[in-house]
Amino acid sequence: MSSLSIENVRKVYPGGTVAVRECSLDITHGEFLVLVGPSGCGKSTLLRMIAGLEDITDGTISIGDRVVNKIAPKDRDIAMVFQNYALYPHKTARANMEFALKLRRVPKDERRRRVMDAARILGIEELLDRRPGRMSGGQQQRVALGRALVREPAVFLFDEPLSNLDAKLRHQTRGELKELHRRVATTSIYVTHDQEEAMTLGDRVVVMKDGVIQQIGPPLEVYQNPSNRFVAAFIGAPAMNLLDGTVGEDGRTVQLDAGPAVAIDASLESGRRVTVGFRPQHLEMHDDGMPLTVRVCEPLGEETDVILETSKEVAITARLHLTRVPESGSTLNLRPRPESIHLFDADSGMRIS
Ligand SMILES: Nc1ncnc2c1ncn2[C@@H]1O[C@H](COP(=O)(O)OP(=O)(O)O)[C@@H](O)[C@H]1O
Ligand SMILES: [Mg+2]
Repeated sequence: MSSLSIENVRKVYPGGTVAVRECSLDITHGEFLVLVGPSGCGKSTLLRMIAGLEDITDGTISIGDRVVNKIAPKDRDIAMVFQNYALYPHKTARANMEFALKLRRVPKDERRRRVMDAARILGIEELLDRRPGRMSGGQQQRVALGRALVREPAVFLFDEPLSNLDAKLRHQTRGELKELHRRVATTSIYVTHDQEEAMTLGDRVVVMKDGVIQQIGPPLEVYQNPSNRFVAAFIGAPAMNLLDGTVGEDGRTVQLDAGPAVAIDASLESGRRVTVGFRPQHLEMHDDGMPLTVRVCEPLGEETDVILETSKEVAITARLHLTRVPESGSTLNLRPRPESIHLFDADSGMRIS
């Protein structure tokens, strides 16, 4: 059953900015869906339209089987968690969490039960009588989550809820969110610009660019089969190497503009212009590899990120298992494993299957 449905939705702000060009999307019951893309691509706008905080220029949004385009935010059965927590500073955690329930005239016993349940799930029982000013960022974020949780909504909306936390706390809270979703299994839409957060949290990820959905799929599918050059570059770290070139006579090699030629695991029309993509993790030392000059080494422990240059001074990143860090200026012969190469049409940027 579809829990939320977005059909041909478009948003043009007064003044003419097209924030969401055209989006269609179905979210199944209990799914954790992540909207990911660079800053300004329209993620928050789409989320705010679902919440009812922005008018929809065109299209339809349904929650369950009810079209909500004209329904006030408070009547949509959603709860939203923002980046800046937006807690009432003069209310205790308990009062913050209870507030929306009071407005909805939920009886006192029921309010108390829901607040205690949420506090237990989030491990914030001891914070209930404290005001936000006396809590850390992580604690405030938990209270903000609790406030959404007590609503027991049909859908949770999260807009970059972890971006104000430091790296360690962000990582920890990410794990807790996942566990929370496993327990309550409420349909959730989560916005982030962080591809790692998207990959680790989402049942499916939706990659957006310039107000247009580029690809929808489970994280590993998007990682393994990016539908175009943008997705290929955006998902995965370090970013995929993407180099333009021309398919050779035999149809099985590509002569890169950057210098070397690479063997591909496909047979393409000779002379065709393509973009060859290979992840830093998929380069290996090989006698017939591309001769590349080491520029910078970043040892990470088990692995080392090596930034190299082709004869035409085009940068290529490799993540290698090395026992010794190579010297800057030395040459490594590297080749992308042919079966791991991604091919895109050089003009359209679309994946060649
Ligand atoms: N209230 C607004 N009025 C006009 N333009 C806006 C408004 N809010 C956002 N925008 C513009 O819409 C585009 C998408 O913004 P937003 O949805 O906030 O992107 P994201 O959340 O992906 O960073 C951007 O170009 C932004 O400048
Ligand atoms: Mg945003």
